Amino acid sequence: MQSRVFFTIALCAALVSCSGDKSEMDAYIDDLMSKMTVEEKIGQMNLPVAGDIVTGQAKSSNISERIRKGEVGGLFNLKGATKIEEVQRIAVEQSRLGIPLLFGMDIVHGYETMFPIPLGLSCSWDMEAIELSARIAAQEASVDGICWTFSPMVDVSRDPRWGRVSEGSGEDPYLGSRVAEAMVRGYQGPILSCVKHFALYGASEAGRDYNTVDMSRIRMYNDYFPPYKAAVDAGVASVMASFNEVDGIPATGNKWLLTDVLREQWGFQGFVVTDYTGIEEMIAHGVGDFESVSVQALEAGVDMDMVSEGFVQKLKTALKKGLVSMNDIDTACRRILEAKYKLGLFSDPYKFCKPEEASQVVYCQGYRDVARRIASESFVLLKNDGVLPLKKQGTIGLVGPLADTRSNMPGTWSVAARLDVPKTIREGLVEAVAGKAMVLYAKGSNLVSDYDLEMRSTMFGRELGRDHRTDKQLLDEALAVARSSDVIIAALGESSEMSGESSSRTDISIPDVQQELLKALVATGKPIVLLLFNGRPLTLNWEAENVPAILDVWFGGSETADAVADVLFGEVNPSGKLTMTFPKNVGQIPIYYAAKNTGRPLQEGRWFEKFRSNYLDVDNQPLYPFGYGLSYTTFEYGPVTLNAKEIEAGETVMAEVVVRNTGKVAGKEVVQMYIQDAVGSTTRPVRELKGFQKIYLEPGESKIVSFEITPELMSHYNSELKFVAEPGEFIIFVGTDSETRNSSSFNLR
Ligand code: BGC
Repeated sequence: MQSRVFFTIALCAALVSCSGDKSEMDAYIDDLMSKMTVEEKIGQMNLPVAGDIVTGQAKSSNISERIRKGEVGGLFNLKGATKIEEVQRIAVEQSRLGIPLLFGMDIVHGYETMFPIPLGLSCSWDMEAIELSARIAAQEASVDGICWTFSPMVDVSRDPRWGRVSEGSGEDPYLGSRVAEAMVRGYQGPILSCVKHFALYGASEAGRDYNTVDMSRIRMYNDYFPPYKAAVDAGVASVMASFNEVDGIPATGNKWLLTDVLREQWGFQGFVVTDYTGIEEMIAHGVGDFESVSVQALEAGVDMDMVSEGFVQKLKTALKKGLVSMNDIDTACRRILEAKYKLGLFSDPYKFCKPEEASQVVYCQGYRDVARRIASESFVLLKNDGVLPLKKQGTIGLVGPLADTRSNMPGTWSVAARLDVPKTIREGLVEAVAGKAMVLYAKGSNLVSDYDLEMRSTMFGRELGRDHRTDKQLLDEALAVARSSDVIIAALGESSEMSGESSSRTDISIPDVQQELLKALVATGKPIVLLLFNGRPLTLNWEAENVPAILDVWFGGSETADAVADVLFGEVNPSGKLTMTFPKNVGQIPIYYAAKNTGRPLQEGRWFEKFRSNYLDVDNQPLYPFGYGLSYTTFEYGPVTLNAKEIEAGETVMAEVVVRNTGKVAGKEVVQMYIQDAVGSTTRPVRELKGFQKIYLEPGESKIVSFEITPELMSHYNSELKFVAEPGEFIIFVGTDSETRNSSSFNLR
């Protein structure tokens, strides 16, 4: 099946190629623009939402009429090849110049075949798998009318209170950059991608969505910019400006960000789109009225206005008043026409509308098989006192509000997904044991307490409405199931809508009612597996101490249930590793492995010392560090060997370790390489991820894993924002997670 999948992918990449060379494109667009009125040019820069509205309030009405008048350059979140073709025909056949529209959508972790939420996907540390997931999503979308996705989301974040950590790749700029490239490569070919949210959106204060960001430039360049830049270097076609401010100016109107950095420093050639109502929101930010924020956005480097309608309503008068130039409008319009030209829309506006192909390709078995495999690679085994893997025998008790729901499995940003098709965990287990074991089920508790449900029922959404039995009735039923079972699986955690956009939390533990259920189950003394659903790191101190096994499955996409069964029964050995630190409590946030040492670091082995950088009430360590994850086997690392101890500027060092599978089953290990730049002209993190390899080892097998430490990997941005490798000691760590002490060092002269 794999080969068929790759074949379809190759075919699809071949289908979408640029039409002609640059001079032909320029001549075509020059000619077209010479016929366009100012209104038509501004119309190209307008992106209203269409059809299914997923965020905010659509401001546009009478879309068809406006398309006819040339007031629309693209639409987003309209689903279905036939519908899209119908709308495209209005643009092509009924508008004066027949310019085709772009059709965009938030295809963030799958189209109908859903892959794990991006945070989970990143925990696979498997860049080929991530690229393949993006390619499959693009392939499905591209035959169903969509030519542009608002993905990848690459916002580095070190604050799990922020619900949107579920949409990104976690806390690390190096890993985030590799994921960004992989996703751009995966999407582009079939469709255009859009890296978002530029910039720094993941650093919103207190983890509250849309909140203020304030950051030094040295931190921007070293820690937060790299994944956006990696996407630009990989040729991303578009960039979305973020909602937040950067250096006191909203990103949407920030010329330094959108022009100086993005275009002048990084050489970005594509087009910039705002986020949803980004221009209008600048009024609430307090930087001007509707006309002046529309002007600011254009001047800053925005080419396309998502939903605000500021460009269509304000730019023409602004032009008359001399507030913007015709040249600014022409430049933005041209960038959008270029994207359309490169997609081949001028030669075939309907090339993405293939309803018949869509009916065969979308959510086909081949793609679902891939999604199942990738989902199982994203799960992270946080604890295992020998309960896992389970045997297909006896009676298995399945309990918890996440055990029998379909629509929560795909996870947040399932815009195109069919929420009624994924199997529930219960169905997956019953199928997997196929009569060899009995599965008993009880809901056990609501997702959250009655009070929360009444207050915010819409937030928790998806099928998890209140069960009207009392907490006691639900618990009693679960305990009866537990008593009759040999082992208990507790499917608990967050619903899919408890993370994602506008889903910040200040208490990131498993909700109270579910914790009570878990405590009662643990008190039965039966072996128990916590099957954890979550869109962010959670605080799990009690669980980590008292529950014998914890498998974090995030939201694994449409094939979650089968993938969960694969891992629970040991058909797949878990190999995921955390890409975001799990704190012990919310007060430790922000907590991340690549921290600075400070002038008063805590001494090794201590957890409190007066006048040192620490807390009175909790130690400085996380519950689970970045890079952490267990396996059903064990791996042993040999010492780090380096081929040089002293090098000159411009030279490279090779680091090697031998890794051996010391357990009884085959498994995959993510070998991680961190560098500490021990002395610099500015303070540097205690270590930074600079390489990783995911290897497969049979029992008893060993492999030599090597890393090339190039001058680039030794470099960072100094206080003048120059990218430099500074002389001094470099310590190289290679191990199983970010706390490894396995190291060796060299000196750069
Ligand atoms: C989100 C973006 C998304 C856009 C369009 C916004 O609310 O921040 O990530 O692409 O809506 O749906």
